[in-house]
Amino acid sequence: MRTKQTIAVLGATGKMGSAIAKSLSKGNYRILLFSRDNTKLGRLKRELRNAVPQADVVSVDCSYNACWEADVIIAAVPYSAEKEVADTIREVANQKIVISVANPVNNNGDALLTPLNTSAAEELQKLLPNSKVIKAFNTMFAADFNQPEIDGKQVDAFIAGNDDDALEIVRDLVQTAGFNPVIAGDLSLSRVLEHMQLLLIRLSIKHNYNRLAGWKILHH
Ligand SMILES: NC(=O)c1ccc[n+]([C@@H]2O[C@H](COP(=O)([O-])OP(=O)(O)OC[C@H]3O[C@@H](n4cnc5c(N)ncnc54)[C@H](OP(=O)(O)O)[C@@H]3O)[C@@H](O)[C@H]2O)c1
Repeated sequence: MRTKQTIAVLGATGKMGSAIAKSLSKGNYRILLFSRDNTKLGRLKRELRNAVPQADVVSVDCSYNACWEADVIIAAVPYSAEKEVADTIREVANQKIVISVANPVNNNGDALLTPLNTSAAEELQKLLPNSKVIKAFNTMFAADFNQPEIDGKQVDAFIAGNDDDALEIVRDLVQTAGFNPVIAGDLSLSRVLEHMQLLLIRLSIKHNYNRLAGWKILHH
């Protein structure tokens, strides 16, 4: 069994940050929450403690300190904030796993802002060259965390990255969150994974999925 790991969630009060923090608080993790909004952060911490009384969750008033203490950093922030976040945490994210959750979707929700030969995750890896950037938690909606099983099927959650040990650690996180982890390949697969979520967003709008939808690969 793995030793208890410390997970820093940046953007903890956002839709994804809070969904990820809530789902992981049920696992054997120490969760460090960071948000720039202390009122919302206090509310989230109380909510988490009420839902999971044994949860090991604390708020940290500075992302640098949260990342210094963490084994794994989850950047649950918009693509547009990743450079600012990377500049703040670069030194303390050295050799650590940094999970890129971002989908670089434009304001109309109909295209990605990144060129076809890169992805938000690969751009984050360039910004954090000494960290192990892993793409995860981007191919589902925040609402799915309350219901990671849809129509009787556990939603697949794709993971991509270049470091095998880091991929295994993130696989455990994804499983604890209630999803079926599927390791897709190296970090360049993030280009596909980010486009998959663009498709899901567009389908959700077109067919009124109410942002409660996910992917399932059928196979033998
Ligand atoms: N919503 C979804 O269903 C979904 C699904 C898959 C992936 N994603 C991805 O997840 C990420 C977060 O999306 P969201 O829907 O959770 O957005 P959101 O509800 O707007 O939350 C974003 C969080 O990012 C933080 N933030 C914004 N600018 C920041 C900055 N410059 N520095 C530090 N923190 C900053 C905010 O934290 P403060 O509290 O500090 O203001 C906010 O809590 C995005 O990259 C999105 O593409 C979202």
